[in-house]
Amino acid sequence: MSNYHIKHLEEYYQVYRKSVRNPEGFWEEIAEEHFIWRKKWDKVLEWDFSKPEIKWFQGAKLNITENCIDRHLATRGDKTAILFEPNNPDEPSEHITYKDLYHRVNKFANVLKENGIQKGDRVCIYVPMIPELAIATLACARIGAIHSVVFAGFSATALSTRINDSDCKMVITADGSYRGKKTIDLKGIVDEALENCSSVKTVLVTKRINSDISMKEGRDKWLQPLLDNASNQCKAEIMDAEDPLFILYTSGSTGKPKGMVHTTAGYMVYTAYTFKNAFQYRENDVYWCTADIGWITGHSYIVYGPLANGATTVLFEGVPSYPDFGRFWQIIEKHKVNQFYTAPTAIRALAKQGTELVDNYDLSSLKVLGSVGEPINEEAWHWYNDNVGKKKSPIIDTWWQTETGGIMITPIPYVTPTKPTYATLPFIGIQPALIDENGEELKGNQVDGRLCIKFPWPSIARTIWGNHERYKDTYFSAFENMYFTGDGALRDEVGYYRITGRVDDVIIVSGHNLGTAPIEDAINEHPAVAESAIVGFPHDIKGSALYGYITLKDVGESRNHQNLSHEINQLIADRIGPIAKLDKIQFTLGLPKTRSGKIMRRILRKIASNEMENLGDVSTLLNPECVQNIIDNRL
Ligand code: WT7
Repeated sequence: MSNYHIKHLEEYYQVYRKSVRNPEGFWEEIAEEHFIWRKKWDKVLEWDFSKPEIKWFQGAKLNITENCIDRHLATRGDKTAILFEPNNPDEPSEHITYKDLYHRVNKFANVLKENGIQKGDRVCIYVPMIPELAIATLACARIGAIHSVVFAGFSATALSTRINDSDCKMVITADGSYRGKKTIDLKGIVDEALENCSSVKTVLVTKRINSDISMKEGRDKWLQPLLDNASNQCKAEIMDAEDPLFILYTSGSTGKPKGMVHTTAGYMVYTAYTFKNAFQYRENDVYWCTADIGWITGHSYIVYGPLANGATTVLFEGVPSYPDFGRFWQIIEKHKVNQFYTAPTAIRALAKQGTELVDNYDLSSLKVLGSVGEPINEEAWHWYNDNVGKKKSPIIDTWWQTETGGIMITPIPYVTPTKPTYATLPFIGIQPALIDENGEELKGNQVDGRLCIKFPWPSIARTIWGNHERYKDTYFSAFENMYFTGDGALRDEVGYYRITGRVDDVIIVSGHNLGTAPIEDAINEHPAVAESAIVGFPHDIKGSALYGYITLKDVGESRNHQNLSHEINQLIADRIGPIAKLDKIQFTLGLPKTRSGKIMRRILRKIASNEMENLGDVSTLLNPECVQNIIDNRL
């Protein structure tokens, strides 16, 4: 058990050095001691970033649900695995023990099989944050079906694009969902999406809001009666280490979303090990991550990482503002939460409410505070530290990505001294590098550059579903023999990392990763629009918000710009989802372009951020005159 739980800084450095000097030996020891295998591997690691090809624990056989559920039954059968906290605080919470979870996952897995789902089939899960979401996910893993969870806030178009990209055979959904005081007609969205999806044969519908929905004969089935009739025993499918476990879509800077493929053994080992250490999880702690399971944070740190450690993981259906802005604090008090993991955008929204609400609750159970999704600004960091952690709970600013599967750079609480806005040190086994414009690695400290990773770690995504070329182009072509993250970072005088933000055309809005291209594609569908360019600009709560520059086909367009803006945002909400709506829309006569016709987003970004002093030389543009016009009409 030597390396599994790091307790002080010297131990971190010692284990880190070991993990870098001999990664195969290090991960083999972790895998050997802390998981159950149907068969051990023949080879720990095989990799070639130029292809790219990465294989961990080749030859091993396992099922991740046996590691997340079955093996805990003997010692933790009556322990709460999932603690469900509903949207409405007056509705009782639900404690799902490991034994309950075992039975419910098995029943669900049998229902999947009875409905024609086999190993390797893709199943789309479009379910709100209720226990069925986690159970459906695990049920897929139980029988070796590949789950593709789509965040239940995405629109019908976004849903159908994702279903079609991976030819899902089945969709699992709910009649509707609760979100604060609103209800959302999820089944209606699924029906609309499925008009364009011929691969889907079956839709399983769980009841949440008891709404009156239409069920399509031969396709749609209520889940509950099927579960009632299913056996609560289901043999786990024996999977190869490198069999895909799931697909999860993330936006790219161009074109359609990328279906990141994560495989079984490496993902399990890395998420479990990072969970244990980054949160310093101890038996009987109550851990709560506020993310949605529709994002990678929820996959790795609500479902797989915690359950692989036999932890109690809170699953919260609601929002931080309902019934009031004290809801998070009330839940922490009610369930005596020990580790709390949330996003900077939530912290900023809560900080805006002052300290009265947070001071009303007993938060003394807290031991660790986590942050993820975007850089946490200094003000938010201090508010979190002072008012939530009462300066006693270390903040772990965890940097990672959908593609990395697990936390990559983070302080280890009570081990690594924290520093506001710094993600601090690489996690065990992670070898970051900062690269300059010429592709040279920057050695030493006090440098900044593009953040890359030099060596594979067990949970790196293995490919993009159906498009390995794009995987190679996006992550392995910028710099030779390196995984390129798309982020910029600096390394300070003691070797701490600070993530400075995206260096590509991805904008992080309220912690959501949005590509500019898909939004522009949606806007350009509007018949009046000629061209558009989206950039990010600083926003108090969202971190970044979207600023759209739009040129119209008919310059004398008589329609009122306000109506047009509204229509454009509606279009974006339909095509992508409300999260991608523009905060500001400026109609302009032209967009600044290079002589080769490329839109100069750098200039637009500066104008949107009100940094007009250093626009750089605009005289070489194709149309320099439009810049002043854009500045004069800036919103
Ligand atoms: C991008 C990945 C990984 C879970 C949620 C987001 C940004 C993430 C941090 C952080 C600064 C961060 C990066 C990254 N990001 N965490 N602690 N500090 N930036 O996953 O949607 O794949 O987005 O989020 O820009 O590349 P994702």
